[in-house]
Amino acid sequence: MPNAKPQQPFFHGSNNVLHVEQIALPNIAERFGTPCYVYSRAVITENWRAFSEQLPAPHKVCYAVKANSNLAVLQVLADLGAGFDVVSGGEIARVIRAGGKAADIVFSGVAKSDAEIRYALELGIGQFNVESDAELERISAIATAMQHTARISFRVNPDVDAKTHPYIATGLEDNKFGIPMQEALATYQRAATLPGIEIVGADCHIGSQLTEIEPFLAALERMLALVDSLTEVGIHLHHIDMGGGLGVTYTDEEPPQVASYIQAMLKRMADYPHLSLYLEPGRAIVANAGVLLTKVEYLKFNGHKHFIMVDAGMNDLLRPSLYQAHHDIVNVVASNAPEVHGDVVGPVCETGDFLGQNRTMRVAAGDLLAVKSAGAYGFTMSSNYNTRPRPPEIMVAGDQAFLIRARETLEDVWRGESLIPASEG
Ligand code: LLP
Repeated sequence: MPNAKPQQPFFHGSNNVLHVEQIALPNIAERFGTPCYVYSRAVITENWRAFSEQLPAPHKVCYAVKANSNLAVLQVLADLGAGFDVVSGGEIARVIRAGGKAADIVFSGVAKSDAEIRYALELGIGQFNVESDAELERISAIATAMQHTARISFRVNPDVDAKTHPYIATGLEDNKFGIPMQEALATYQRAATLPGIEIVGADCHIGSQLTEIEPFLAALERMLALVDSLTEVGIHLHHIDMGGGLGVTYTDEEPPQVASYIQAMLKRMADYPHLSLYLEPGRAIVANAGVLLTKVEYLKFNGHKHFIMVDAGMNDLLRPSLYQAHHDIVNVVASNAPEVHGDVVGPVCETGDFLGQNRTMRVAAGDLLAVKSAGAYGFTMSSNYNTRPRPPEIMVAGDQAFLIRARETLEDVWRGESLIPASEG
């Protein structure tokens, strides 16, 4: 059986039933219940290779753990030799637990705590992506006290418009991320004088779900100008890290192919043979490797509008509510039911609780729907709002389906809460 294609990994197979790899989704629903997240190992693997094959060592690809941090997902990537981009001590611990190597970790994150810095130094992570002067001083002090050396890059804000949703654009002047480009040279010079610090690179991340190459190239241009001015003052970088951000196809977007995006950057870097390129893709590795499987509870018509009410809500998949993000939603079994035009909504008590608006589909109560492209920023952004236990996660590999996170129980949901003593009288 050939591996599924990255952008169309889930396909209607025999009897018009949606499959993931060799398994029909109704079988997954029967075995694990709904709602549930379902991932394809083949697609994760294929997406990873699209990056890693373009960037052999000393270049490096560091998967952005925040997109999907399930231990089994990290394990699959660690086995493929991935590096990891993390933003918390918790994500570092996950990488190690899943079999990743500390030396392959880059630690981004805007407000690293003392404890996180110490933990990262003890493990000997690859490098810190430093976001401010104050953080630099803190890392220097802690590393010196521990008699360690912290390898660092500065996250520089290149002030480039990523042309994406304002909540996921990060490289503009009024974002909280990184140090301003005009202060970068002075900050590097200061860092070069501090104990416990070894400068290794520079990094940026201009935003997420970018569908054009130009903003990346504009950012690269500014990063290379910084490399030049650093070289002039005797500071030599080993690599530049251009962050993540490559978009995927949710509906009709046409992001650049991974190879063209990487080759365009490598071409521009041809004059810098000693400089390696690091990338931190998240979404491009996992988004289209996953679906959220949900069951239609009711069809409702309020005299004005139709609603397809499903058993997954904004607590399970927040992206539509938070970013008005579009996820295609399809009936898992091609249906002859009457066509409905309306909103796909969840059980959460919020008007903003929708998974899709103004959709047209043939659907009846009891049908299974697949919310597509849900492998990135799906489960990782889920919550227990409305005391809804979070859904299970399932990894499909060929004809096997593995439960990689059990559905939460109510005991799980209120673990750590306690009652107070009864009041007297
Ligand atoms: N590196 C850094 C420093 C980042 O901040 C991010 C994402 C990435 C890499 C990975 O970016 P990607 O390749 O996945 O675009 N929750 C939002 C996305 C937030 C992204 C935050 N940073 C969403 O659901 O669209």
